[in-house]
Amino acid sequence: MYKTHTCGELRAEHVDQEVSLAGWVDRLRDLGGVNFIDLRDRFGVVQIVSNPETSPEVHQALSPVRPEWVIQAIGIVRMRPEGMENPDLPTGQIEVELTRIEVLNPAKTPPFLINQEEEVEEQTRLKYRYLDLRRPRMRDNIILRHKIVAFIRKYLDEQDFLEIETPILFKTTPEGARDYIVPSRVHPGQFYALPQSPQQLKQMLMVAGMERYFQIARCFRDEDQRGDRQPEFTQLDIEMSFVEREDVMELLEGLYTALVKEITPKKKILETPWPRLTYQEALDRFGKDNPDIRFGLELKDISDLSSESGFRVFADTVAKGGTVRGLNARGLGGYSRKQIDELTDWVKQYGAKGLAYLAITPEGEERSSFAKFLTEDAKGKILSRLEGKPGDLLLFVADQPDVVYECLGRLREELGDRLDLADPSVLGFCWVIDFPLVNYNDDERRWDPSHHLFTSPMMEDVDLLDNDPSKVRGQQYDLVLNGYEIGGGSIRIHDAGLQERIFELIGLDMEVARERFGHMLQAFSYGTPPHGGIASGIDRLCMLLADEPNIREVIAFPKNQSARDLMGNAPSAVEPEQLEELHIRIVEE
Ligand code: AMO
Ligand code: AMP
Repeated sequence: MYKTHTCGELRAEHVDQEVSLAGWVDRLRDLGGVNFIDLRDRFGVVQIVSNPETSPEVHQALSPVRPEWVIQAIGIVRMRPEGMENPDLPTGQIEVELTRIEVLNPAKTPPFLINQEEEVEEQTRLKYRYLDLRRPRMRDNIILRHKIVAFIRKYLDEQDFLEIETPILFKTTPEGARDYIVPSRVHPGQFYALPQSPQQLKQMLMVAGMERYFQIARCFRDEDQRGDRQPEFTQLDIEMSFVEREDVMELLEGLYTALVKEITPKKKILETPWPRLTYQEALDRFGKDNPDIRFGLELKDISDLSSESGFRVFADTVAKGGTVRGLNARGLGGYSRKQIDELTDWVKQYGAKGLAYLAITPEGEERSSFAKFLTEDAKGKILSRLEGKPGDLLLFVADQPDVVYECLGRLREELGDRLDLADPSVLGFCWVIDFPLVNYNDDERRWDPSHHLFTSPMMEDVDLLDNDPSKVRGQQYDLVLNGYEIGGGSIRIHDAGLQERIFELIGLDMEVARERFGHMLQAFSYGTPPHGGIASGIDRLCMLLADEPNIREVIAFPKNQSARDLMGNAPSAVEPEQLEELHIRIVEE
């Protein structure tokens, strides 16, 4: 037996016991001939002492050992001498006096320190991920992730959900990204698509009568990478029969509230029940449909004050159907011209043509890029709408609504960061509802679903489908946490006729629709229960609960920003014979 105990579990009560431990050498110190080893395993660290006077042979055997060697250490647990206890270490009261040592495996010097939180270039961390995962931060993240998923499984099992696996090799399931496709050897020229989500299959499971389904599902999407996106990621995928929007939202709210209480009890949920914002309200107040609601700094519309204001930029924008909105960065009234210019350049990268400002120093002195054009009356009204006071910096963008939302939404979060407005121990969950069912795609001149093809319109809006599709709301909901979309779902269309109407609206040729989704239309004709569901991004949830800045930190083996696995060096070329078998020829560009 290698281990009688783990490295994290020995306490005063084990004193005088002989124990066998195994793990990695975390640290080695030689203090006046006596060797101290910190031995580490997944469960913790324990101090081992080797004294040349009491056991010279053991001491000798220890001499070649270096950090990260794997050893087995047998010894007797002793209290540490008075004054030598380490209150920071759970095992800090005791040490193990070494009586025998086995080297299980030596180790090369690792490319970075395992036992210290030093900055290491991410490239190196990803290349040697198995070493990176030995470090406490990553180990703790992986353990947290396990606990989160284990909690979810238990909770849903208790609520009568069935965990059902669905195929990875299937047909295209569009969620707005490109597919990863897999060539078939036995069917030349034909391809599977990896699922962007199990969407179609979970709906099929509802037709099949499973009623309450969940899966910790891997999804694959070929899209541009960001800190909160990976080409393969994990969803908690849920589908339920005989439910309305309210039922699905309630389930998730109950699940995550219980999860936070048990797994991250130090975090406080901002508000219960979770606030609900309509899509339009989210844009108007926060500039984005996945707002961080932990702080205010809300957008204010001054379009109505702009026409008469005397400032051409504002007035012309409104005359052209645009909007003028601003926010009040409390406390930044002392920003220098240079700082404001920098902020202006920063906003311009998101499409703004400028950033009009009105700064009021703490002493009450005003500086502004546009106030000189304003009538006193207009200035007074603008100040009062934004509640401008000494010490404030008011910032405005005038443009078409999408540009204004995009710029001010980003500016709000940037300023929130600079002003430290979001409490990191708080979880600001909220729901965003009442999305438009479809958005007009100017480039392609067609309507695109704002969620996915299978989302049901609000029944009271169905009549608008033919005449005014932009006004039709979808029965969908997004779950947002601290400025990230951590879930999305909807009540589905369960009527083949309505589904065909939606295909038509989004300009999907019926031939193509039947080829791609005929199996769904067919299934729907055999008795389909009303159903709906949601999928929540597990990686994003773990990231936020672990206080990490991106999802790579909570994924054991993530891909880098260019979708490459640096450890295994994937993707990579394959043997010509393999291509031959798959009937594939590579065309050099
Ligand atoms: P949706 O496309 O909104 O919905 O995805 C659900 C949630 O998955 C997470 N997510 C991602 N996480 C990491 N990397 C990615 N590339 C990525 N893409 C999405 C987000 C998102 O909210 N089938 C529907 C759900 C349904 O209707 O039930 C779907 O997949 O947190
Ligand atoms: P200008 O008249 O171009 O010198 O601009 C005067 C001020 O208005 C400057 O502070 C610009 O940054 C700002 N500005 C110009 N265009 C816009 C716009 N579309 N929205 C907000 N501010 C703008």
